[in-house]
Amino acid sequence: MRRTRALLLLLLMGGLAAVQPAAAAVGTLLADRVIFSGKLASSMGDSSYNGGRLPDLTGAAAGGGVAATFNPKPGAGLQFYFAAGAVDASKYAGLAFKIAADTSFTVNGGITVGVQVAPGIPKGVPLKTYLADGKVGPAWQAVFVPLADLGAGTALSRTLSVYWQGGTVQQPRMYIQGIQDTRSCVACVGQQNASEVIRRMDFAIASMGARMFRLDMETYAAGDEALQWCWPDCNMDSKYLTDLDTILTWVASKHPGVQVLLAAWNSKRGWGMTDLEWPTATTNAMWRTVVTRLGKHPHVWWGVSNEPEYNFDGAQDAQVWQAMNTAVAAIRAAEKDAGQYPHIVTVQGTRAWARPLDYYVTHPITAGDGINVAYETHPYNPQADFAALWVNPAKTLPVLIGEFGPVDGSMTSADAEKLMQTANSLGIPWTAWTLHMRCPPNLLQDLSNYGCGVGMPLRLTAWGELIKKYL
Ligand SMILES: *[C@@H]1O[C@H](CO)[C@@H](O)[C@H](O)[C@H]1NC(C)=O
Repeated sequence: MRRTRALLLLLLMGGLAAVQPAAAAVGTLLADRVIFSGKLASSMGDSSYNGGRLPDLTGAAAGGGVAATFNPKPGAGLQFYFAAGAVDASKYAGLAFKIAADTSFTVNGGITVGVQVAPGIPKGVPLKTYLADGKVGPAWQAVFVPLADLGAGTALSRTLSVYWQGGTVQQPRMYIQGIQDTRSCVACVGQQNASEVIRRMDFAIASMGARMFRLDMETYAAGDEALQWCWPDCNMDSKYLTDLDTILTWVASKHPGVQVLLAAWNSKRGWGMTDLEWPTATTNAMWRTVVTRLGKHPHVWWGVSNEPEYNFDGAQDAQVWQAMNTAVAAIRAAEKDAGQYPHIVTVQGTRAWARPLDYYVTHPITAGDGINVAYETHPYNPQADFAALWVNPAKTLPVLIGEFGPVDGSMTSADAEKLMQTANSLGIPWTAWTLHMRCPPNLLQDLSNYGCGVGMPLRLTAWGELIKKYL
């Protein structure tokens, strides 16, 4: 499906229109709750996905405004949040804002105006319904969306968004599972089968509500134990990439809107990473191969590394940053050479197996102007750690929780459940570990007879059932 490419400028002024509430005395008018007026109001935060922003155009239109592109890139969208928490909806009648675009275009049903009416309960309506002629053009146009249309109750919780339904991380329902590739966490290195990966993804989409996958790419090299079972090989070669292409093509045709993060998962040797799992020139050359072959898919994201290890005191943060920034630059160069848009790239936490993101808060990735870069953490941690690990970073950075799940001594099921509740309420996307039967913590029961599991019945474990509840 081809998506419209158009530049939108949004001017969010009096974002929640002040009106006369039924309960107020006749003649009383409440002040507008201003979201944007020359600059973002102090009561508001901006958590728009980086990729949706055109910083150089912010404020460029008459009257100022915050810009976003809605184009074939996933991640386009604007999102603002009420810094002080929920807002009393009874004091407002609707959302009011102005909107403009650099060239006139007909808005399709994919562009949505949404709010969270309660933590984790997003409501959205198509923007086009509220436009005079279904179009947005260079002249600012006032838009008013009655809260009643959004089914808003008594409070607006946290976020107000205008987003591209087809692929923005601000869409609070776009969550999912990790899934293995055809090599399947070593289980299928001798039996690689794209149809089996597709069967499992279809199950996750149809039976669990998955909208996004982190697909863990496996390639093994000399020194890896798995190599002895690889048949015909475990190389990052054209046959393997054709399998991935088959999977991505199937996703686009059968489940448009579903996003797939291709992660350089295993192994360090196979991907040419350092012992601490930082990308190197070898890794970046492999990314060029992957990007050149698969970047034609707009719904694909790139996960630079798996988990940078150790470095508990952060002494090597600047070096990890450098390695990640160089990798992003290499990916951007490959995309440019192939005539592709910049896909969303995730860089992983600098320490302790991809946990902390704080170095990026003060040092965001600069390669490719930092556009469409998201920051990935793997917080197998107790809830007491959530604020520092990802809730606080997500206030200023686009964050993806790329792995988590119950692991003895690190994270309980209650912690994992709390993570999903909190992330859903904040609109932070997550992918749980993992849609597999022998790569714990497992979402699937092992009904494979210790094999690859081709055609095995797909039944969820208790962990899988818990995830299904929050998708
Ligand atoms: C590949 O997987 C599909 C789906 O499970 C299955 O129907 C097919 O028989 C498998 N092919 C081989 C060669 O195992």
